[in-house]
Amino acid sequence: MKTLVLKSRAKVNLFLEVTGKRPDGYHDLLTLFGRISLADSLTLRPSGKPGIRLTVDNKSNFAPIPPEKNLAWRAADAFYRRFGLEPALDMRLVKRIPSGAGLGGGSSNAAAVLEGLSRLHRRRSPADRRKLMRLAAGLGSDVPFFLAGSVFCEGRGRGEKLKPLRLRPGRTFLVVYFPGFPVPTPGVYAALRRPGPAEVSASRREYRRLLKAMSAGAGPAAWAPLMKNRLEDPVLPAHPSIARARRRLAEAGSAGVMMSGSGSTVFAVAGSRAEAARLARAIKPCKGMVFLAEFA
Ligand code: C5P
Repeated sequence: MKTLVLKSRAKVNLFLEVTGKRPDGYHDLLTLFGRISLADSLTLRPSGKPGIRLTVDNKSNFAPIPPEKNLAWRAADAFYRRFGLEPALDMRLVKRIPSGAGLGGGSSNAAAVLEGLSRLHRRRSPADRRKLMRLAAGLGSDVPFFLAGSVFCEGRGRGEKLKPLRLRPGRTFLVVYFPGFPVPTPGVYAALRRPGPAEVSASRREYRRLLKAMSAGAGPAAWAPLMKNRLEDPVLPAHPSIARARRRLAEAGSAGVMMSGSGSTVFAVAGSRAEAARLARAIKPCKGMVFLAEFA
């Protein structure tokens, strides 16, 4: 069997509203995912030696954890168990996507592992695909999006009920700012004041306006001001440095700035490379990391 090298891309949430709380403790969402070019690299090498081995080449803020705790390792383990295969695999992950950043890095890695192993072991039937999707949902709320293989998806439920969307955002550049520290997701949902039914109805209308603007092909100036993320409510007041960076990008003239997922990343939308470069310069004095990206 041959070696596979896969790109494991990050995501941003262009819209995120919390529409309810579920009996299982999770929150129901209405979200719009966009996959971006910022990516980790994953190599899968079938081995003669039984077991799953993972080495991480860290180019970001990734804190060392035991391999078995890594979502990539857990995804491989889940795959071999579900399909009744004996694991014999070497994996290498080059981490560039910041962790705990709201960019879905770990989830993307898990999806890339499932995708890669399904190719290596030829588990590609529609029934296999359904099994993979269920494995993905069990590994994390954002994993199914990355497995869906579409640049844009609407997510409902925990984010695992997906509808691929063909949008026309126009030429878009994203300035992605990671403040250098993670924001753990559970605390964000715990601190959230849940919106009432009237607010949720208003958000659904705003969401439809965003989709319409992103379908019209008029470019980012038309849709970026319509982005929204309910999770900014609990995160920004608790982390003034994120709020400051967000303000700085907005004041530098970005068409729209938003926090991604539960933070800590904020991203700014630009319609040209020159504008993106200007926004990147404006955020330079803030400590942390800045990436230029596109939808991909
Ligand atoms: O599924 P994932 O590991 O991404 O979620 C981490 C935590 O975030 C969950 O344990 C839960 O506390 C919270 N969460 C939530 N509702 C969601 C997604 C996450 O309450 N839709």
